[in-house]
Amino acid sequence: MNLKDQISLDKLPNHVAIIMDGNGRWAKQQGLVRVIGHENGTKSVRQVVEASAELGIKNLTLYAFSTENWKRPKLEVQTLMKLLVKSLKKEIKTLQDNNIKLSAIGCLNDLPKKAHSELLEVIEKTKDNSRMTLTLALSYGSREELVNAIKQIATNVKNNIISVESIDESIINKHLYTQNLPDVDLLIRTSGEQRISNFLLWQIAYAELYFTDVLWPDFTKQDLYEALINYQNRERRFGKTSEQLS
Ligand code: IPE
Ligand code: IPE
Ligand code: MG
Repeated sequence: MNLKDQISLDKLPNHVAIIMDGNGRWAKQQGLVRVIGHENGTKSVRQVVEASAELGIKNLTLYAFSTENWKRPKLEVQTLMKLLVKSLKKEIKTLQDNNIKLSAIGCLNDLPKKAHSELLEVIEKTKDNSRMTLTLALSYGSREELVNAIKQIATNVKNNIISVESIDESIINKHLYTQNLPDVDLLIRTSGEQRISNFLLWQIAYAELYFTDVLWPDFTKQDLYEALINYQNRERRFGKTSEQLS
């Protein structure tokens, strides 16, 4: 039986998030410059977006650029931003044809004007699509997101809009970039690194973590299927006992 057929379509994660890592090392292994790795990484993006939509996953979130990634060499940052614009222009048709809604989380105002406006345009054009929500994390940092949320909530308390007692998890959720997304069920990180790197700290509270040594530009639909099968063979107990679940 091939991998795809081993996936139970009634037990799919509702929200898959991916830390797409290893582009630089992929390029280095072949004696190429890092940016070639990023270029090839866009092919993997296409693969996972297609595969996720085909299977019926409702939410896919991709970590494309972190708040910390601004510290990289200027040329690499510029190339990544250009690549973003190029990919958005190229993929808009695929998104429309496949009824996929594009969304973005992060400090989008920090993006170069061109990238920001292109992004907003694709978000606007795809806003009524309903098969899957594809969220790009761009200039995203989880701690920044939480700091912003706390500031907004504190301001609301100061202005007597809400009381301290009324602050609960749902209020915090409503002030995050991810307010319209469910919690992450499955978090995948490629390239062998086993860390979170400031991604969705609040939202992964009960996510299943899956690490693979595959470098992002080598990641294919088959690799996603493997991750999903692995996920489906786990028992998610959410604090309960195994007996309580059955
Ligand atoms: C992930 O690949 C892409 C971004 C962080 C933008 P890297 O560029 O981090 O690749 P490695 O980790 O150096 O191999
Ligand atoms: C995390 O990868 C960010 C993205 C994949 C966009 P990094 O390569 O920036 O993470 P660290 O620095 O290895 O933790
Ligand atoms: Mg990296």
